Amino acid sequence: MPSNLARHFLLSEDVVFLNHGSFGACPRPVFETYQAFQRELEAQPVAFLGRELTARMRTPREAFAPYLGTSPENIAAVVNATTGLNIVAQSLDLKPGDEILTTDHEYSALEKTWAYVVRRTGARVVTVEVPMPLVSEAAFTEALLAGMTERTRVLFLSHITSPTALVFPIERAIAAARRRNIITVIDGAHAPGHIPLDLDALGVDYYSGNCHKWLMAPKGSAFLYARPQMQGILNPLVVSHGWTNQSKEPGAMGALGNSPFIDEIEMQGTRDPSAWLAVPAALAFRKEHDWDAVARSCTALAQETAARLTERTGLAPLSSPEFSAPQMVAMPIPDCDPLAIHDALIERYAIEIPVFKWKGQALARVSVQGYNSPEQMDLLVDALSDLLDLARPLSQAMS
Ligand SMILES: Cc1ncc(COP(=O)(O)O)c(C=O)c1O
Repeated sequence: MPSNLARHFLLSEDVVFLNHGSFGACPRPVFETYQAFQRELEAQPVAFLGRELTARMRTPREAFAPYLGTSPENIAAVVNATTGLNIVAQSLDLKPGDEILTTDHEYSALEKTWAYVVRRTGARVVTVEVPMPLVSEAAFTEALLAGMTERTRVLFLSHITSPTALVFPIERAIAAARRRNIITVIDGAHAPGHIPLDLDALGVDYYSGNCHKWLMAPKGSAFLYARPQMQGILNPLVVSHGWTNQSKEPGAMGALGNSPFIDEIEMQGTRDPSAWLAVPAALAFRKEHDWDAVARSCTALAQETAARLTERTGLAPLSSPEFSAPQMVAMPIPDCDPLAIHDALIERYAIEIPVFKWKGQALARVSVQGYNSPEQMDLLVDALSDLLDLARPLSQAMS
């Protein structure tokens, strides 16, 4: 049975949806706001996209920036984190032999992005193995420090990892990189709405995050943060009216009246900005429903579900609880054909959850959002137990 918050979402009742991490569900009132913007656009396209767009785009920046711990001038709207991170990766002036330091937990689309940059520049990716299980901030930072050389130009880290659902303790690594003049680029795709963010205090150079995952804004809403001193070296992926052939020093005026950083990135030719415009509605929905409290119950449910499965599998978790993403846990499961388990879960039990192998270990990643319920977790644990033949908890089997 879904939670009573499920009525605020458009998810089909035919599915036990436990994969908010891949594509988050958007609450009904937020989606309606989004559609209202689309209808307004269609009623007078020239007014909306011509005369009013610059002012309209500013409203979400102003509403959202405090939530991120920065000022509106430091964030630009992009359609997804992949785009934000591509803008950074493709703007950096890397030379043959330069090193991009990263980890073995990164998201595959971004691994491809850096592979593309490497092919074009002759730089190379250096991948550090994060000591697992992740139980200590010191071990994480030490591993990265050991990977830094005088050739390291970029440190690229997920804030919350996709395959392993860990919150990387990135603060000390960022500070260490900054002291060595290494450019810090953080993939925060899963962070907004999931963990507190204070981007200015973090001291990071570039950070891109999605609003369409845990913040629950419509698909196509994300942001790129750039520290003021680092905005000038960015180039848009698409050159359009916002581009200006001028200095991009802090304080410079862009072609459309914002900074060049914002104007160049936000103006990409004709497109639908409605998802970004609905970000304030997502913030309002969260406030109205005390989503911080909802998220705390989701975290408790996620951890309890993982503990129940651990009891059945006997397989150690990937981290101690403080490094597990609050609402998303990647649970080790016995060796199996992950695709077959995934398909059986959806076909026989209507449970939507990713099951895959990461570095040879089979993992099932459960996301818990406000629309989920303890009963759905029971279904998942029972279904996985049946499919993996974990009929009885280990503790009982041994007694
Ligand atoms: C860690 C991480 N980075 C980047 C992305 C890409 O997000 P998007 O497809 O919205 O750009 C994802 C998507 O799940 C992700 O998990």
